[in-house]
Amino acid sequence: MAEQQSSVADVQQLDFILTEYRRHLHQYPELSNEEFETTAFIKSKLEEAGIRIVDYGLATGVIAEVGALPGNGPIVAIRADIDALPITEETGLPYASRIPGKMHACGHDFHTSAIIGTALLLKSKEQELNGTVRFIFQPAEEKAVGAQRVIDSGALTGVQAIFGMHNKPDLPVGTVGVKEGPLMAAADGFIIEVNGKGSHAAVPQAGLDPIVASAHIVTALQSIVSRNVSPLESAVVSVTKIIGGTTWNVIPEKAVMEGTVRTFGDEVRETVLARFEQTVVGVASALGLRASVKWIQGPPAVINDKRLADIAAAAAAPVGLKTIVPVPSSAGEDFAFYQKAIPGVFVFMGTSGSQEWHHPAFDLDERALPLSARYFTELAVAALDELAR
Ligand code: NI
Repeated sequence: MAEQQSSVADVQQLDFILTEYRRHLHQYPELSNEEFETTAFIKSKLEEAGIRIVDYGLATGVIAEVGALPGNGPIVAIRADIDALPITEETGLPYASRIPGKMHACGHDFHTSAIIGTALLLKSKEQELNGTVRFIFQPAEEKAVGAQRVIDSGALTGVQAIFGMHNKPDLPVGTVGVKEGPLMAAADGFIIEVNGKGSHAAVPQAGLDPIVASAHIVTALQSIVSRNVSPLESAVVSVTKIIGGTTWNVIPEKAVMEGTVRTFGDEVRETVLARFEQTVVGVASALGLRASVKWIQGPPAVINDKRLADIAAAAAAPVGLKTIVPVPSSAGEDFAFYQKAIPGVFVFMGTSGSQEWHHPAFDLDERALPLSARYFTELAVAALDELAR
């Protein structure tokens, strides 16, 4: 048994197994909250290796543990997200998605198989571990609800540090991006409703025009980043959708706008959101209309703990990875919810992709799979050793 388990440490075999796992998951993508087959697949691979599954009552997703039973030394968690996107794949790869309209276009299949690999490697040295490694195969990251659900399930209880990754197409295979502080943005969505009064287009004085008011609001919102956010901080305000009116000779009753706000820290986030509402309501009011903002609250910013980031950076060289300091991403990531609860580090794994996340031709270099598995193995061991001191 011991011999069989340690054989996954063989570089070529691990490479082969993880590629096979990833290609299987890639062919059968499942959307957020529907990851039933994916869940069964992960469970079966872990159980085959004798890894213990811990039931926290999640409908999809898997929690598993390697190492000592909880209560005997520190617990560190490693998280992989498992869900796919409603995108039709256009890679033309032999192992492309077999499900029309669904695709692993963000590489969560990569995260899942790499972290299964980590579990297999850690299992093969279980007796040497200075505590417990808890694996969180998290559902519904794309809808930004999975992390909070995992926390609510109690699966984070007793965990002192959490680690996770996202593949990064613009970083070459063989590199890992590690950075303390802000790494990914808080991603809030908004729906603005501008309520006026309809009238004949030729008799504007009889109405209150939500189209003109919307135009002023869009323009005024652009002053938030340039006038209310420090030049040394950053933020994004994007209005991405405007709907109002039905024809050329009628001033409509109302207009609706949607878009997103991205920020990299609680203070800037609060400032931008507050200024946003004041601007929308104030500009509309100045023109005699009423407007309201409904927020679609996204995850907060991914902010990496310094002490753990140092451990994450040091874990790269022993497995042949080069550490770089990555440029933060204005995309959102619900890993941030874990970091609100406990210290954590999220890293970017170089995967030499030709397309960005969520592109129908998104792909990655699978040589990063065993590298990632070994990296998180090294990192988990190092974190346990550090926390056990
Ligand atoms: Ni993603």
